[in-house]
Amino acid sequence: MNFFENDSRIGKTIISEADIKQKVRETGKFLSEKYNGKPLLLISILKGAFIFLADICRELTVPCEIGFMRVKSYYEGTSSSGDVKILMDIDRNIENYHVVVIEDIIDTGRTLHDVVEILKSRKPLSLEVVTLLDKPERRLVDFGADRSLFTIPDLFVVGYGLDCGENYRNLPYIAEYIQK
Ligand code: IMP
Ligand code: MG
Repeated sequence: MNFFENDSRIGKTIISEADIKQKVRETGKFLSEKYNGKPLLLISILKGAFIFLADICRELTVPCEIGFMRVKSYYEGTSSSGDVKILMDIDRNIENYHVVVIEDIIDTGRTLHDVVEILKSRKPLSLEVVTLLDKPERRLVDFGADRSLFTIPDLFVVGYGLDCGENYRNLPYIAEYIQK
């Protein structure tokens, strides 16, 4: 028995551990073939994507480097972009790398839209976005990931790195969060 089983705020399982594992493996294979022989930098957006990054980098069969960024969004009502602040930046010049951004979830799309603009302005050799989850129904800006492992309905979810008030990141699968 673990503590999640007694927690009535954890609703139904949306994506099981086994399903995550299988898709992460497929994505690792795809990225390994695509970036074979190329300088590859995976950039994870903290904190939500830390588990996804840790799992996907171990499915790669080619060399890669790892970078972390932490951003905060300050969007008010109608603003759709341009209000993201970098709290922690990656520690190197990305001009000589093929960059793959590893994200946990795309919701309104605003955060990643802005992050991608910032990273593109630094002129990497190429840039693509891989997201674990996508909630297209919630989109407010025109933004799509190059690769999304799972499309989910408009639900608030936790687990596998995603939090609610900093809790539940260590739940090993994705579950619906029940607001009380
Ligand atoms: P957006 O795409 O700019 O709206 O922001 C996406 C960010 O909001 C993600 O990186 C998460 O940190 C957070 N987020 C959005 N939906 C969820 C959810 O269902 N569970 C947990 N965090 C979420
Ligand atoms: Mg995030």
